[in-house]
Amino acid sequence: MRGLFKSLNRPQRFLNEETVYLSIFAALMAKIGTIDVGEFPLLLAPMEDVSDPPFRALCKEQGADVVYTEFISSEGLIRDAAKSVMKLDIYEKERPVGIQIFGAVLESMLRSIEIVEASGPDIIDINFGCPVKKVVSKGAGAGILKDIDLMVSLTDAMVKHTNLPITVKTRLGWDEDSIKIVEVAERLQDVGCKAISIHGRTRAQMYKGQANWAPIADVKNNARMHIPVFGNGDVDSPEKAMEMRDKYGLDGAMIGRASIGYPWFFKEVKHYFETGTHCASPTMEERVKAAKRHLEMAIDWKGEKLGVFETRRHYTNYFKGIPNFKEHRMKMVTSDDSTAVFAAFEEVMQKFGDFQFV
Ligand SMILES: Cc1cc2nc3c(=O)[nH]c(=O)nc-3n(C[C@H](O)[C@H](O)[C@H](O)COP(=O)(O)O)c2cc1C
Repeated sequence: MRGLFKSLNRPQRFLNEETVYLSIFAALMAKIGTIDVGEFPLLLAPMEDVSDPPFRALCKEQGADVVYTEFISSEGLIRDAAKSVMKLDIYEKERPVGIQIFGAVLESMLRSIEIVEASGPDIIDINFGCPVKKVVSKGAGAGILKDIDLMVSLTDAMVKHTNLPITVKTRLGWDEDSIKIVEVAERLQDVGCKAISIHGRTRAQMYKGQANWAPIADVKNNARMHIPVFGNGDVDSPEKAMEMRDKYGLDGAMIGRASIGYPWFFKEVKHYFETGTHCASPTMEERVKAAKRHLEMAIDWKGEKLGVFETRRHYTNYFKGIPNFKEHRMKMVTSDDSTAVFAAFEEVMQKFGDFQFV
């Protein structure tokens, strides 16, 4: 409380009760630069071929507070590679939205910032966490965790090159023996990074084992840290999100895989925070409706072929739990023709319309 009085920067005797409550409320709100993202925001993680505009729209409708694009190559952007440029599409309804870029060459990163800015995102996020070999081998993504000085100087230059808030998404370290995330986060903050999202695994772990949130809490507990510290990795239930907030004291949760084919996850976490109870699972009708809209929006945005192909990965979760579903799922994931996929949705509705999801 004393800190709050101090932060108001005026004598305590002028404070009434309302001012105190307002200041407590303000202190609980996370801010990315000047963007208010609410108390313990839920962030949709950047995911390649997943967090595209259609899926981001669905997650936003279901309560995601901040959404990020998948990572976009700075080298691709500056060469005007159509695939990279298309990923810059963002829509008003999804704000605040961050565009994530990756690369290791300063000049390319700076030039790509100018291209990214033209799309009007609210945030630019730097990917310093991708563990994939073809990215890491070029020193980008998690590859940069081997050269923290370069990580900091790149961030510094990017912050200076734009008025948009720069945020960073990274991992705990390169491997178990090189975890220096407390020091790294502080240095990133000192050069002007406005928030940091940390996946509780090292690059060496890839996606294996369990995410370790304790080092992320160490970052948050560093008395010098004042930017939001968002936790990431394995938040797959409302209880886990609550643990990230209450036990680890983090400023928000970034959610990836639990949302694939299940945009309702954000709403379920919020309901649990508000009531301490689980809300009812979406009905079959809601699931079929969402799957249809998802496919329609995907086709609209990226065309029939890619739309049909890239929406496939969501169907398992949209319809998870229905017994003897394989035949229907196969129709959805093997057909190249959207008419057949829409027909498969209808068939599922007819056959399993009354199914109770738990
Ligand atoms: C299919 C897929 C694609 C991903 N693509 C990206 C990406 O483009 N940028 C990024 O920073 N992380 C990416 N990630 C990592 C996620 O953002 C997240 O850090 C990771 O999945 C752990 O969170 P989770 O346990 O909530 O899924 C990807 C993960 C998955 C599963």
